[in-house]
Amino acid sequence: MQRQCRKIRASGATIAFVPTMGCLHEGHLSLMRLARSLADHLVVSIFVNPTQFGPGEDFEAYPRTMEADHQKVLREGVDTLFLPDTKELYTDGFQTYVQLEDLPNHLCGLSRPHHFQGVTTIVTKLFNIVQPNVAVFGKKDYQQWIVIRRMVRDLNMDIEVVGGPTVRESDGLAMSSRNHYLTEDQRKKALSLYQALSAGRQAVAAGEKNSAVIKEEAIGSINAHDDVQIEYVVLCDPESLEEVDQIHHPVLMVLAVRVGDTRLIDNMLLTPP
Ligand code: PAJ
Repeated sequence: MQRQCRKIRASGATIAFVPTMGCLHEGHLSLMRLARSLADHLVVSIFVNPTQFGPGEDFEAYPRTMEADHQKVLREGVDTLFLPDTKELYTDGFQTYVQLEDLPNHLCGLSRPHHFQGVTTIVTKLFNIVQPNVAVFGKKDYQQWIVIRRMVRDLNMDIEVVGGPTVRESDGLAMSSRNHYLTEDQRKKALSLYQALSAGRQAVAAGEKNSAVIKEEAIGSINAHDDVQIEYVVLCDPESLEEVDQIHHPVLMVLAVRVGDTRLIDNMLLTPP
């Protein structure tokens, strides 16, 4: 793969890269279309990366739908589909990890302590193999997107990192491979994430400046459902991820909620008038 990508670059062509863990949906496909428009050659990887899952998380259960994924990437005109093997990526004696100092100590990093180290390590490895000019990530996983942007700057990686907007189902639920775990009843409850974010956006647009008011309303409306457990509701600065009490600039509202056993995340930018 590395040799093939080196040849493509040597021919003068540029490479755009979209890393995924598969179970592809419209969110992934939208990133491929965006990436397609940014370079000559489009590489997509599918790899369920074990090092970003904690003990007791869903690594084994994570949906693997290779045949359907293959058809989808063919339809999107992807030039190279990269399916690395776990033993080849994590060889015996593997011991080198990429770790950011501060950005992982917020939001999802608090309940998933080694998650971002797993993400930054695998993304660095994939970058070194694919050697892309540009890589595209979804803002659905907002913290992941800014962690990777920061890593690329800090380590002088010669790669442009582009963020794609969150793709939603028609009723607003953010598309996610983990939505496959939801029963019909849980699917309805899952919509409370989007509803809470939309209510927050409306309140801020109407002049509400107090983060606590918005958080309380969101917590109340999500907790109105049974079998739903909030991990966090945070209003934070979109760059530093530091919590914000008073809203004078656009803030990011971010949620993590467990519906049954399924952990869902979503976010929205709230912009004051
Ligand atoms: P995965 O969850 O498969 O997501 C692959 C990419 O698709 C990520 O950049 C993610 O943010 C984006 N994405 C997911 N749902 C989206 C949606 N509804 N709208 C827009 N983009 C969406 O994220 C990972 O895999 C892994 O952590 C990875 C970066 C591949 C490293 O293992």
